[in-house]
Amino acid sequence: MSAQKIDGTALAASIRSEISTRASRFSDRMGRPPGLTVVVVGNNPASAVYVRNKVKACEAAGFHSELIALPQECSEAELLSVVDRLNADPAIDGILVQLPLPDQIDDQRVIEAISAEKDVDGFHIENAGALMTGAPVFRPCTPYGVMKMLEHMGASLRGAEAVVVGASNIVGKPMAMLLLRAGATVTLCNSKTRDLGAHTRRADILIAAVGRPQMITAEMVKPGAIVIDVGINRLADGRLVGDVDTDGVAQVAAAVSPVPGGVGPMTIAMLLVNTMESAERKLR
Ligand code: GUN
Repeated sequence: MSAQKIDGTALAASIRSEISTRASRFSDRMGRPPGLTVVVVGNNPASAVYVRNKVKACEAAGFHSELIALPQECSEAELLSVVDRLNADPAIDGILVQLPLPDQIDDQRVIEAISAEKDVDGFHIENAGALMTGAPVFRPCTPYGVMKMLEHMGASLRGAEAVVVGASNIVGKPMAMLLLRAGATVTLCNSKTRDLGAHTRRADILIAAVGRPQMITAEMVKPGAIVIDVGINRLADGRLVGDVDTDGVAQVAAAVSPVPGGVGPMTIAMLLVNTMESAERKLR
C-alpha cells in the first residue's frame, strides 16, 4: 500500500484565496485593510525564514503587514514597549511575536502583554483557557491547520483514537484539546512516555510534533492510520525532514502529510484566518 499524500500547499492556497476576498470586502467597508504586525527578536535563522513567509503571505492576501526586527540584545522592557504600542494601534488587528525569544526575555511575560483580542497566535492565557472551556477563541495556528487538514480529508474524529506525540504549548497541548473537542479519545505523549510505540500503534490519527528527525517509523504506525507530521528538522546534509519517516510510513498508513508542503503552509494560512477574524470583529 502507498499512502495518500496530504497536500497542505493546495489546501492552504484555497484558504488564502478565500481570505483575499474577505480582506478586500473588509477594506471596502473599513477604509483600511486587515493589519498584522510580526515581531522577531535576534538572529535565529529558522525564525527569520518563518517570519518572512508570514509577512509575504499577508501582503499577497491584501493585508497591511509589518515586520519589526529587534536586535538579539534587545531588553524585555524594550520588547514590551513595542507590544504596548501595537496593542494601542487601531490599524493593527493581530500581533505575533515569533518564539523562541532570547534568554534575557521571559516568553510568557511577553505573550501575556499582548492584548488577548490581538493574540492571533492563540497563546495568551485567556485564549488558552477559553480553548479548554470551549468558548470561541483564536485557535493556535498549527493545530488549527492540522484540524482543517483532517476536516478536508473527511477524517472521522468522533470516537477515534488520536495520539499526539509532543506536549508543547504551541502545538501538542492545544492539538490535544482540539481533537478532544472534536470527539476523539486523545493520548498526549511526551519525552518521558514509556514504550511510545505501544501508544502510537493504537492511533487512528497520529500527530507527530516532537522536533526529532524521522523518529516515527513504519512499525510505530497502525495500518490505515492518518499521520500528520508537524516537525521541520534540518539535517546535517541540508535536507529538510519532518518527525516522520515518510517513505517508510507511507507503506503502512492510509495518508501522511509531507514535509515540506504539509502542515507548514497551513500554519500560515490559519494565521491569516485568525487575523481576518480579529479584523471582522470590528465590523460587528
Ligand atoms: N515559533 C514556532 N512556531 C510559532 C508560532 O506558530 N507562532 C510564534 N509566535 N512563534 C512560533
